[in-house]
Amino acid sequence: MGLDPDRLNAIDLATVDEFHVGGLDATRELAAQMELATGLRILDVGSGIGGPARYFAAEHQCKVTGVDLTEEFVQVAQSLTRRTKLDHLVEFVQTSALDTKLPAETFDRAYMIHVGMNIADKAGVFCEVRRVLKPGGKFAIFDILRAGEIPITYPVPWASSEETSFVVSKGSYHNQLEKAGFHVERERVRTAFAIEFTERAIARAAQDGQPALALHLLMGNLAPVMIKNVLAMMKQGVLEPVELYARAV
Ligand SMILES: C[S@@+](CC[C@H](N)C(=O)[O-])C[C@H]1O[C@@H](n2cnc3c(N)ncnc32)[C@H](O)[C@@H]1O
Repeated sequence: MGLDPDRLNAIDLATVDEFHVGGLDATRELAAQMELATGLRILDVGSGIGGPARYFAAEHQCKVTGVDLTEEFVQVAQSLTRRTKLDHLVEFVQTSALDTKLPAETFDRAYMIHVGMNIADKAGVFCEVRRVLKPGGKFAIFDILRAGEIPITYPVPWASSEETSFVVSKGSYHNQLEKAGFHVERERVRTAFAIEFTERAIARAAQDGQPALALHLLMGNLAPVMIKNVLAMMKQGVLEPVELYARAV
């Protein structure tokens, strides 16, 4: 892509390291609702290869700790963070979001982007986030939720079959968040934005070819069919990308 690997900035990697529908635009939108300030400590739940964490550090000067279960993702996240010279603000820990081993009441904010679909125990993850957040801290979620009862068509980017897919409804997120000690302050359905973003990316790839840095590097050869399935299900009203903003009470 003509980038110098020794002079990368956080945004240069956005076509590959923002591993969710809506890419960097979606991360920006989430950040804009999170009442951020320089120096705040943020937990990134399921940080992947670290695009959102680097964005929060580079654009908002926050200190971010990313936790992820996948060792290889953590290693790539650390390497890209060194390359983009953000390792003084961002760290990654290989651990489960259900039991991070991080100290209680450490973080001012937390966010979770496209992770809940892979976690059956939503109550467990919400309780763990509540434990490590300071009282009054804000928790932002951007996940794909179930909008209707029609069965999901696999593969999707988070699962090749229903055995590893745990997509539930907005009502279920609300209940589990409230039980875990959060008050849900706001919810925003992002289906129209996500459809438009995905259709634009597909049209661009058809016209100009796939960029060298893109999500096929993370999703493999089935990336086009996974993306096509999610797009079709968002259009049919089977799935909906939703932002939720909750406050630790
Ligand atoms: C689709 S990726 C999203 C990555 C990142 N949030 C982003 O938006 O770029 C989902 C991530 O969740 C992680 N994950 C899944 N289950 C997890 C768990 N129980 N604890 C921590 N991470 C988990 C996966 O390893 C993967 O990196």
